[in-house]
Amino acid sequence: MITTSYVAQAKGRTPLVCLTAYTTPMAKLLDAHCDVVLVGDSVGMVLHGLPSTLGVTLDMMILHGRAVRRGVERALVVVDMPFGSYEESPEQAFRNAARLMAETGCAAVKLEGGEPMAGTIRFLAARGVPVMAHVGLTPQSVNTFGGYAVQGRGEDGERVARDAAAVAEAGAFAVVLEKVPESLARRVTSEIAVPTIGIGASQACDGQILVVDDMLGAFTDFRPKFVHRYAELSAEAEKAVAAYAADVRARRFPTADHVFGDTPGAVARGRGA
Ligand code: KIV
Repeated sequence: MITTSYVAQAKGRTPLVCLTAYTTPMAKLLDAHCDVVLVGDSVGMVLHGLPSTLGVTLDMMILHGRAVRRGVERALVVVDMPFGSYEESPEQAFRNAARLMAETGCAAVKLEGGEPMAGTIRFLAARGVPVMAHVGLTPQSVNTFGGYAVQGRGEDGERVARDAAAVAEAGAFAVVLEKVPESLARRVTSEIAVPTIGIGASQACDGQILVVDDMLGAFTDFRPKFVHRYAELSAEAEKAVAAYAADVRARRFPTADHVFGDTPGAVARGRGA
């Protein structure tokens, strides 16, 4: 089983492989290949059709966290703390992180935010809650940023660098760095003591993470620059569904292969009872 200490010590070694998952079957598929499986709050947009991650609740994260944990034997399972579940106070964060860990069996939580969250991360880490931090573009702050633009260009790079330094110093065991320029990712990676895990942050990071549905091509209408599509699942699924619909309408499905006889073994041309 991969631990948070293993991840923390992987800095500068073979890049850490991380993907999101939200269901047991996908978690089973990822387990042999990934160091970290993140139950991201992206689940709200990916599986529930929400317009942003802001509507994701703690109960949703617990439900999907449990499902993923059931499918994983080897990888480190990290569950996102949703918007509103940790920002109020370190005590609120601890209460909800403890629920996430106790009710899902995950080994760590992830929360968004830099310097302002450092005190909370320190509080959690000192009380048995390993924290993966997330700086740069933090999607829960979409209304503050006014969108999902690249963060940390030019002078703004100082802010992101300070954020990463603050959360690492507070005890985060790894830091997700989202949508920042390559030069800044390189700087932050060299300046902080724990691994950086990039998403839209170049090869300069100590590891990479993507939303699994994005890299599998599960959407036709979402093609961000930082994602390489390793498959075209939506096109394949569309073809399969169209073929099924045509077969049903033309009475080509089901065939004798899919039909049961009156007694076990009595299937005339089928494959079994
Ligand atoms: O919610 C999410 O999926 C994430 C990442 C992809 C980093 O936070």
